[in-house]
Amino acid sequence: MNVTFGSKTQHYRTVTFDENHNGVELIDQRLLPHQFKIVTPRNYRATAQAISEMVVRGAGAIGATAAFGLAQGLRAFRGQDRQKFEAHLQTVYRVLSEARPTAVDPVNAMQSIRAKLDKESPVSDQKEKALQLAYEFANEDVRHCSEIGVHGVGLIQPGMRVLTHCNAGWLAFVDVGSATAPLYAAHHAGVFFHVFCSETRPRSQGATLTAWELSQEGVSHEIIADNAAGYLMNKGEVDLVIVGSDRTLGRTGEVANKIGTYTRAVLAHRHKIPFYVAIPLSTIDWHLRSGEEIPIEERHENEVLGAWGVTSRQQRAYVCVANPTSRARNPGFDVTPAGLITGIITPHGIFRPKDIWKNREQLGFQG
Ligand code: MRU
Repeated sequence: MNVTFGSKTQHYRTVTFDENHNGVELIDQRLLPHQFKIVTPRNYRATAQAISEMVVRGAGAIGATAAFGLAQGLRAFRGQDRQKFEAHLQTVYRVLSEARPTAVDPVNAMQSIRAKLDKESPVSDQKEKALQLAYEFANEDVRHCSEIGVHGVGLIQPGMRVLTHCNAGWLAFVDVGSATAPLYAAHHAGVFFHVFCSETRPRSQGATLTAWELSQEGVSHEIIADNAAGYLMNKGEVDLVIVGSDRTLGRTGEVANKIGTYTRAVLAHRHKIPFYVAIPLSTIDWHLRSGEEIPIEERHENEVLGAWGVTSRQQRAYVCVANPTSRARNPGFDVTPAGLITGIITPHGIFRPKDIWKNREQLGFQG
């Protein structure tokens, strides 16, 4: 999407690759909306660390980062020994896949690359192929998000008030975003609507990233405290909810997404408000049979006990908020049951959660 600084507007992708320096180029999302900075981890371990520390975050964006990180790790291999190369690949894969556990996109992205590498071909060919496949994953992510926009745009009617949670915008993907794709498509078609961005404590992706994206695009919006969603729904001020997903189970239609999504789904159900989830195909997990099997990341308690922001001198700073002698619990995601979801917006159309499995061939299931 376009980023405007002063009078200058430039198009950016969230994740790209610097072939000359073998670096993965990332927008440092920890600094937004106060500072726009590109960082370039120079080896696969640093790339994995950038994922863990949420320099880059969001399912599709960490999927593309892992894909480029895999290519980066393979390109750094010295020698021609295919067996040693394969062992190295296993290590790179493991390090990147362990960086964050809940989103399935990194694993899906790297597995699709591994499946297409010919182990019998020379090491140099495999390196080149891995990078080409990482670019393909990134481009497909953009295509899928654009197609979500095509299928979801009809949901956004003039004057609607749409609630979204966390950031499933272009920053969470390579470009365009999943939950934001219908919003951007409607906005570009001249439809006027209003978005409520839930703040999304503890890391505030709604207040910082989604709000920044919508400001950049000129979409009408307001940030609400997480706790305000029920009040607004009860007052009839929310017409539609659209969120993203970090892992959607193809067999059951259950959706893992940022902590607080389940709460919004329960509230939407209670108030008979349509609740949609937007996903590219790389977010579908065809293996797990129950949402209870989804690994839910528990992050450091300091995210809950305090908050990051900038001082009046524009210095980034962490402030303690909570009682200093108390401990905190910090699950990063929750699982929303299929029964609370009106529809899943995919690049191939909108499906009821239970129909994902019925339409598995079309939605990318492979055996
Ligand atoms: O912890 P994050 O910021 O990586 O969480 C991921 C998310 O942004 C959300 O869960 C989002 O709604 C789905 S990712 C497209």
